[in-house]
Amino acid sequence: MKNRGVPQDQFDGRPVIGICNTYSELVPCNSHFRVLAEQVKAGVLEAGGFPLEFPVMSLGETLLRPTAMLYRNLASMDVEESLRGNPLDGVVLLFGCDKTTPALLMGAASVDLPTIGVSGGPMLSGKYRGTDIGSGTNVWSMSEDLRAGNISLEEFHEAESCMHRSHGHCMTMGTASTMASMVESLGVGMPGNAAIPAVDARRNLVARAAGRRIVEMVKEKLTLSKILTKDAFENAIRACAAIGGSTNAVIHLIAIARRIGIDLSLEDWDRAGRGVHCLVNLMPSGKYLMEDFYYAGGLPAVLRELGENDQLHKDALTVNGKTIWENNKDAPCWNRDVITPMKKPFKKDTGIAVLRGNLCPDGAIVKPSAATPKLLRHKGRAVVFENIEDFHTRIDDPKLDIDESCVMVLKNCGPKGYPGMAEVGNMPLPPKLLKKGVTDMVRISDARMSGTAYGTVILHICPEAAAGGPLALVRNGDQIELDVAKRSLNLLVSEDEIAKRKKAWQAPKPPLDRGYWKLYNDHVLQASDGADLDFLVGKSGAFVPRDNH
Ligand code: FES
Repeated sequence: MKNRGVPQDQFDGRPVIGICNTYSELVPCNSHFRVLAEQVKAGVLEAGGFPLEFPVMSLGETLLRPTAMLYRNLASMDVEESLRGNPLDGVVLLFGCDKTTPALLMGAASVDLPTIGVSGGPMLSGKYRGTDIGSGTNVWSMSEDLRAGNISLEEFHEAESCMHRSHGHCMTMGTASTMASMVESLGVGMPGNAAIPAVDARRNLVARAAGRRIVEMVKEKLTLSKILTKDAFENAIRACAAIGGSTNAVIHLIAIARRIGIDLSLEDWDRAGRGVHCLVNLMPSGKYLMEDFYYAGGLPAVLRELGENDQLHKDALTVNGKTIWENNKDAPCWNRDVITPMKKPFKKDTGIAVLRGNLCPDGAIVKPSAATPKLLRHKGRAVVFENIEDFHTRIDDPKLDIDESCVMVLKNCGPKGYPGMAEVGNMPLPPKLLKKGVTDMVRISDARMSGTAYGTVILHICPEAAAGGPLALVRNGDQIELDVAKRSLNLLVSEDEIAKRKKAWQAPKPPLDRGYWKLYNDHVLQASDGADLDFLVGKSGAFVPRDNH
């Protein structure tokens, strides 16, 4: 290590701190991470540690095909083995774009070193012709406007440039902002981690403080498993409901928890999130953006509301050595239009709802805060798309036999089926209905949905169609009944008929029979189990039994 000029006196047994960096030009959301890493490094040196930055596989939501989620578990293996194989005493994880956060936390959980997560922060608010526009959310709405002929392609491109005008990740309450909020509410990030814009100088201060603090954590032997307790996960679930967070958090939190040895389930999501209201008026559920959220007080103001309304395990320990309540009990709110009080919430009862029924025996989820209230109880005729290609081929056809009371059904988009469980569950509506002014329909699938998307969209149906779940057996014209209040989703077809269809069903061939895709297909778990690879669940600590020479 002396080949880059590290002085001899630095090899004196001081804590060696890894800075796990997901910087990549292929991941626009993380493109400022070199600066962030320098800040962490400065903090580590100031506290008397020995910082060593290293790259791991990074995952960009916008570029990776067929979906970044396919590679979350692969990136987590890279993180885990890098942390264990190298002589590190503690680690600061730098993440931003959606999947980078869970991938790094999953890998780190399986090693269980002292760990701090630092999020890269959201982009500044999009500004377009006098209005604020949000990443993802307005891409979806403007894509529909474009398809309906309401705007031109030039206007669409102009809006795109106005939307992405600074470093940072999506600035709606999408998956990246949700996961950054999960990091803070789990206690694995420094206070203020979630909302500070990427280009605000205070983002650098969070990174610097993490660098200083991780050195102390090594001395205190404050490992990740002391932070990531069941209470911490329940705090995160409630925080997710209170921010109107992304449905993707359900899968990621289950996967992270099971790596560290906590048995988190869909039932925990439904139970812990019940009765929690959405306090944050942010897109896609509301109108503001992450920049507004930060100026209004950010996640600390939300956590304070949860604590004052008995919805927070106050004693959960966080990485700065204080409890979550000590960190947030005096947090101010500067704008009650952006962050509402629990007594006058922005939306009521917004915890993720977990559905069961003969269509989803192992569960399905819906985000009520992003849905149309009157569609949360609905019965309709199924219009079935066998896979994503079938959907794209037929959805624009004016002759498609569909009206607004139908239930759109998409199959074979789950963990095995796509593969990687792509964010295609929020199927665009047929143009002929858009032109009529229809804005939402019940849509069901085994896919995920972007955290920036919205609508009455039932997701993560388990087991998925490609694994032989009942979703595979739905046919055009079947009646489907949804009742979110009763937590049910059922196919109104007789058991005999279902059994007959099941007998005739044939499993689809895996798309690739070699390499990582094969490993993934052979071992991926269903969404209800976090969609991790079965052999990665759990942890094996940081110890390596043999030396290298
Ligand atoms: Fe990276 Fe949205 S594309 S956070």
